Amino acid sequence: MLWFGGDYNPEQWPEPVWDEDVRLMAEAGVNLVSVGIFAWATVEPRPGEYDFGWFDRVLDKLAGAGVGASLATMTASPPPWLAARHPETLPQRADGVRLWPGGRQQYCPSSPVYREHAARLVERIAERYGAHPALKLWHIGNEYGCHVRQCWCDVSAADFRRWLRERYGDLDGLNAAWSTTFWSQRYGDWDEIQPPRTAPTFVNPAQKLDFARFSDDALLACYALERDIVRRYTPDVPVTTNFIGLVHKPVDSFRWAREQDVVSLDSYPDPYDPRAHVEAAFGYDLVRAARGGQPWLLMEQAPSAVNWRERNAPKPPGVMRLWSWQAIAQGADAALFFQWRQAAGGAEKFHSAMVPHAGPDSRGFRDVRALGAELGGLAGVAGTRLRADVAIVHDWANWWALESDARPAVLDLLETHRAHYEPLFDAHVSVDVVPVDADLSGYKLVVVPNLYLLADGAAQRLTSYVEGGGHLVVSFFTGIVDECDRVHLGGYPAPLRRVLGLAVEEFHPLPPGGSAEFDGGRGTVWSEWVEPEGAEVVAAFRGGALDGRPAITRHAYGTGVAWYLATRPEPAAMRALLDRVRAGAGAGPVLAGLPEGVQATVRTGPGHSYLFLLNHGAEPATVNLPEPGADLLTDPERPQSTVTLPPRGVAVIRR
Ligand code: GLA
Repeated sequence: MLWFGGDYNPEQWPEPVWDEDVRLMAEAGVNLVSVGIFAWATVEPRPGEYDFGWFDRVLDKLAGAGVGASLATMTASPPPWLAARHPETLPQRADGVRLWPGGRQQYCPSSPVYREHAARLVERIAERYGAHPALKLWHIGNEYGCHVRQCWCDVSAADFRRWLRERYGDLDGLNAAWSTTFWSQRYGDWDEIQPPRTAPTFVNPAQKLDFARFSDDALLACYALERDIVRRYTPDVPVTTNFIGLVHKPVDSFRWAREQDVVSLDSYPDPYDPRAHVEAAFGYDLVRAARGGQPWLLMEQAPSAVNWRERNAPKPPGVMRLWSWQAIAQGADAALFFQWRQAAGGAEKFHSAMVPHAGPDSRGFRDVRALGAELGGLAGVAGTRLRADVAIVHDWANWWALESDARPAVLDLLETHRAHYEPLFDAHVSVDVVPVDADLSGYKLVVVPNLYLLADGAAQRLTSYVEGGGHLVVSFFTGIVDECDRVHLGGYPAPLRRVLGLAVEEFHPLPPGGSAEFDGGRGTVWSEWVEPEGAEVVAAFRGGALDGRPAITRHAYGTGVAWYLATRPEPAAMRALLDRVRAGAGAGPVLAGLPEGVQATVRTGPGHSYLFLLNHGAEPATVNLPEPGADLLTDPERPQSTVTLPPRGVAVIRR
């Protein structure tokens, strides 16, 4: 079964509305709602005083209507009494400013007081509802690190010191890891160490990197605390927490994914952006790969407009359907929304909902109902999986280190990823976005966009991958520092020099908007002084200080090939290059001859597979099928050999 539904906040409505809610849910084919996410203040109005009666009735009504609950642990936003009684639970920014109640998520992740109150509540919830027939999934917290990504308060400072002791054992280890002889930063006592608070100038980058790791761990500890409680009561009910789309810097989704039974993602592409679906696609390819291809859940998306951009575009007719199917096509087993009924008050009243302010007799609700019916008819898709020949490597520690201060140039990792991902997406190639420790052996091509921080072990794995016949593409400023942000000495990029067959002597980042000509194209962002050491020069820079020096190289190594990009080719040149690399690696498109703007994926299960065709373009598109197949959405009985998709059209062909 594919899950269909959304966040449901009945506490915002009088009880008679709940009856209409479940009636409309049944009408729309809703089978799962995330319930209770922000209900803490309602179920525990005063510390230790609980009022679950109303929530019992909500869950009973849902169960009665055949709607499952993705049951929240209700700890995403503490009630005001917690801060009033325990002000030390409030988070603090790097500059010392406290973050007060009045919004949401105002808790310090390291706070033992917050954790204790959260744990007590979760215990009550798990005990009370563990056997409830509506319970299908545990929804722990909500969007960890959405607003409070890191906390610099004294409680966090003490917790950071504990974390550092565990990591380094003694101060000598820490001083070495943080290169503290620089700028007189040497620590003689643990209590001298602070989180990287606002300082006169650049804060020690290794300290910042460790603080990012620590902060991620602190959030993960909050999650794990609650997960362990619900698992004690219901070992068989799966547990998730929703990641913020599309990739969220403070939270290492790869690490968190290992701590969940199923991963879920919130996705809010901007309808004003004609390429929003490509950005979304990257996030979906990552979240799917985070648990080795296991189906994931699209936990939230907007039925139409959000309310938190400067200008909030509604989704034009067809986009809500198209983007829901896109998530399914990329491996999701759920299309869920924020939220069920549009709020009348509060900060999100102009955020769209499945039941809009206009009521059920509206374009919005009719579209919702139609989508529910479609998804209900394609239950067989659930559990099927995608296969990709190409992997792009993403790593959170690298992200944190790369975007720290005082680099040769400010580099934006997501933009870098996009530059490498888009040409593959446009060429209709399936991609997995994988962690640096992934098993690469099944991929024909591995792309490493900008892996500045690279541990020796990971470099060795990339080298072995090529040795064993893999095709590798590495872009500039990769393999520069170790886990402590210390340069790998011996010539850049020391741990990859052998496999790439070159050394980089000097970085020449390009001025803002500047470019560098090379044979067959133009580079942007960056250039550098490369000395080949066995690599073949595929293209050289033309003009300027680097005239005649390598811009793109190719190195046959072992039984594989390693390519190197000393600049960022402009989109057309990047596309041409990756097409050429793919041809050598034998990594083809999902389907030959697909028109531009059509996304295609295949999900396969035992004995059957589904070809998804999605037209993201503004013109109709015709696709020739390799063998006749029926479109399950429009004409399930009639096999066809060509499918014509209207703009924003979707077809699901069973094979
Ligand atoms: C996030 C949150 C939801 C809601 C939506 C609005 O995804 O999880 O509670 O605020 O944003 O877009």
